[in-house]
This record gives sequence, C-alpha cells and structure tokens, in this order.
Amino acid sequence: MKAEGEKIAVLTAYDFPFARMMDLAGIDMILVGDSVGSVVSGYDHTLPVTMDEMIYHTRAVVRGTGSALVVTDMPFLSYQVDVRDARLNAGRLIKEGGAQAVKLEGGTNMAETIRAITAMDIPVVGHIGLTPQSIHRMGGFRVQGRHAEQARQLLADARAVEEAGAFALVMEGIPAPLAREITAAVEIPTIGIGAGVDCDGQVLVIHDILGLCEKYSPKFVKQFADVSGTISQGISDYISEVKGGTFPDEEHSFK
Ligand code: KIV
Repeated sequence: MKAEGEKIAVLTAYDFPFARMMDLAGIDMILVGDSVGSVVSGYDHTLPVTMDEMIYHTRAVVRGTGSALVVTDMPFLSYQVDVRDARLNAGRLIKEGGAQAVKLEGGTNMAETIRAITAMDIPVVGHIGLTPQSIHRMGGFRVQGRHAEQARQLLADARAVEEAGAFALVMEGIPAPLAREITAAVEIPTIGIGAGVDCDGQVLVIHDILGLCEKYSPKFVKQFADVSGTISQGISDYISEVKGGTFPDEEHSFK
C-alpha cells in the first residue's frame, strides 16, 4: 500500500462487536492496543495491563474480524526484561490470542528484541515517539522530537526498527515535518497518531473517535461521532420506563 500511495486506515478494538463493525466497514488493520487499560479498564495509563488481559481482548477481536490484519500490543513488562520473555510472550499473543502480529514500544534499544521475535516468524510493528509505556521517563504524555537531538534519535530509532525486521512503524506524538522525514527515510509503512498527514497511514483509539471517552482528549484526536450521547439517552429512557411501570409492555411480555 505504501508503494502504491494508498493510505492505511487503522483503529483500535478490544472486543467482538467493535471489531466486527470496523472489519465490515473496510478497516485495513485492527490494533488491540494496551490503551484498553485507559479506555476500557479506567486506569490513568497503560502500565497495569497484563498479558492475560491482552490475550482475552485479542481473542474477542479475532472472532469479530474477517479480513483486517489483527495486531496486538505487547503490554508493559512482557518484553522489556529479557529477550527470552519477549519471545515467549509474543508467541502467546499469536498462539493463545490469535493475533497475526505484535506491536512493541521502543527504537534502537529494542532492535535486538524485534530481531529475536521476527526470527520466530512473528511479524512485528514498532512504535516510537510518544511511547505511553515510558510515561514516567517522559514526565507525562508529551510530544517528542521537538529538539534537534531528539529528532535525530527518532530517525535513528526508525531505521533501527526497520533494520531489525519490523514490517510497519507506529509514530506517536511527533511533529509533522519530522514524521514526513522519517516516512521518506524508511521503506516500511509508517502509521501516525499525532504525527501529521504525511505518514503512510493513521491510527486512532476507537473510543476517542466515537466520543466514548470522557477523559481529556489530546489535540490529535478528531471525534467523528457522539455515541455516548446516544447511549446515555437510551439508558435514561430505560430507567424512566422501568420506574414508570411502562416497561415491559405487552409486546415484550409472554402470554
Ligand atoms: O495502545 C494503543 O492504542 C496504541 C495506539 C494508540 C498506537 O498503541
């Protein structure tokens, strides 16, 4: 798709119904993101998410997917400690979860790990820039690569991830001109989130684009629908009808 100049559309999903809807709508790739920790489990960040949780959500997404590529995030502590752990955990996401590829955060520092996982024939997506699992080092969710030295490091990271065998690269929270430069410098497709329009594809969190998340939403999120308004109205109507004794009516009762 990169070679043909066709943009790649990616969304996150964590369950069967959302995966099915986006697959039928023609999404190219579904990411079972560890953002599940923030938007589904209610944590402030992704660090508490476990391997077992990622496997559970991946299974549900895979059951709802027909043609999109399913990529699953390796959660914090599943690949950083040593390469053997990383290989085993990547294997579990494929074998038990049913994903077709895994994603992990990091650049040059993760090259050896990416090489080891791809050597097991498990396709890997890299993730550089604002990497949420490094929230404590970054001091919050901050745009990365604004300074020349950081920008040089991100370019080196992208090249290292590609050279290690990753087949795609997520770039999060970096200035658009830098994302354009990196996209031109690597052959693998870049998937941007808060990285401008010149990436080869875009990814957003499904809860963010549908207005399902009340928490602070970053500048790069565009809300494409207000689903929580519709849901809240439905719930209020149900409560009123139950309290008013108008539900269930004859139509919804057995004779
Ligand atoms: O966890 C996630 O959803 C992600 C994307 C937002 C890139 O890593």
